[in-house]
Amino acid sequence: MRVGWKSALCMVSAVALGFGGMAHAKPANNGIAAVLHADKPGPVLSRNIQGQFAEHLGGSVYDGIWVGPDSPVPNTRGIRNDVAAALKAVKVPVVRWPGGCFADIYHWRDGIGPRAQRPMRKNDWWGGLESNAFGTHEYFDFLDQIGADSYIAINMATSTPSEMREWLDYITSSANDTIADQRRANGRQKPWKLGFVGIGNEAWGCGGAQTPEYFANEYRRFATFMHRNGATFHMHNDNAALRVASGPNNDDTAWMDTVLKSAGPMMDAISLHYYTVFDGKWDSRNEATATGFPAEHWNHILYQASRMDGVLRAHEAVMDRHDPQKRIGLYVDEWGTWYAPEPGTEPGFLYQQNTLRDALVAAMTLNIFHAHADRVRMANIAQAVNVLQAMILTDGAKMALTPTYHVFRLYMPFQDAQSLPLDVQAPLLQSGTDSFPAFTASAAKGKDGRIHVAVANADADKGYRLSVRLDGLRARKVSGEVLTAAKRDAHNLPGQPEQVHPVRFDGARITGDGLTIDVPAKAVVVLALD
Ligand code: AHR
Repeated sequence: MRVGWKSALCMVSAVALGFGGMAHAKPANNGIAAVLHADKPGPVLSRNIQGQFAEHLGGSVYDGIWVGPDSPVPNTRGIRNDVAAALKAVKVPVVRWPGGCFADIYHWRDGIGPRAQRPMRKNDWWGGLESNAFGTHEYFDFLDQIGADSYIAINMATSTPSEMREWLDYITSSANDTIADQRRANGRQKPWKLGFVGIGNEAWGCGGAQTPEYFANEYRRFATFMHRNGATFHMHNDNAALRVASGPNNDDTAWMDTVLKSAGPMMDAISLHYYTVFDGKWDSRNEATATGFPAEHWNHILYQASRMDGVLRAHEAVMDRHDPQKRIGLYVDEWGTWYAPEPGTEPGFLYQQNTLRDALVAAMTLNIFHAHADRVRMANIAQAVNVLQAMILTDGAKMALTPTYHVFRLYMPFQDAQSLPLDVQAPLLQSGTDSFPAFTASAAKGKDGRIHVAVANADADKGYRLSVRLDGLRARKVSGEVLTAAKRDAHNLPGQPEQVHPVRFDGARITGDGLTIDVPAKAVVVLALD
């Protein structure tokens, strides 16, 4: 299914990234008119929308997060200080681990006990050797160091409910049982807090090439043993951790339908994976390069990123049929750009550069998630360090914060903020015969009490003047930052001065009961109103 935009103009809103159905505000000042409804608050934007993903793949965990206590790279108990500090600085809310496809070949017992005695395994999915130096204790130490919540993906394809159950007990048991004693003997007295448990990963693909019917049955079997207290019937999850079922790829609504029908009552959330690849076709993912791309690739990639909105709508329609109360969350626990690997790197390690274009993808995607916040309660960009649309790239002891990282930094005020509808007509851009909105926008009342507005202008050539009427709000002043660069593929390299980072934005002003924003071309602007 291809999702496109049929009309010449479309409406964007923090509550519904709408395509028709809302009152059209009139353009003003030769620009674009918009209305921010501070008097009509929408759903809370879960901080988990800014979640991360770290898989045992290439340089994601090893070198990217874990260097070991004896490394010359400054570290705390083996976890590199620069990366931990950078992730802590953007208040990463949750980190999904250990995969990905890797999760379904991972046996958690390999990753506990004295590190010198842990087995060396082949990483059959991504290549290289898996030393198991980074296991359960190291993962929770990493989370403690950055202040994030836990989300483990259990091995469903090559393991058993019993192995899952024992890992959960190892992490969470406070009883005097043998598994908890083993954890204590390994240096951790108290149980850890477990936030989320993913049951299966891409069960339709690397997670066992299952049919949705087969997966639904298997999911039911595993989910039955998630409970904490045997007195509780399996339908009720009395475990503090939430159960996340492996969900569809892209726009596969048949998977969503079958799995929800059979196993919906036994899950708290279902995942969705959507990657931005050239032409939207998996096989063409190596046809686009991260840098040095032809001008028309800018729109191709941003169009593919914009399809997230239609994909979410399609799945939400199915979810609404099965779960009208919206009990079940939709977790987009893998998303981001996927280009050809950087020349000279191991292809299986999925190492790619990250440019201003990726920053636009990130901001557009976060705006889309905000518009779907009644269902989308978690999302995990793939991945945190050194893999795909990375937040951070490392090279030995050196590190670069990518343009994507800077978008997450700018969007921090949206964590757990109350969304506010922002109706705006965006002109359309073309990608071949497909079209998509030139910009997306979000507004919300932050935990700090301020109103925050974000605009991602994907138009590489043109800036826009947004004249925003402020309904239910008197603002006295506006301040903010902008992320842009002269070159479309501007990027940051480890150990070199940054080419792309946010700077103070002077293009916004309060005008009576309104706000005027002069958004530059190919730019992300985030404002705070007082
Ligand atoms: O993020 C890289 C891989 O992409 C994951 O392991 C897998 O789940 C997806 O196909």
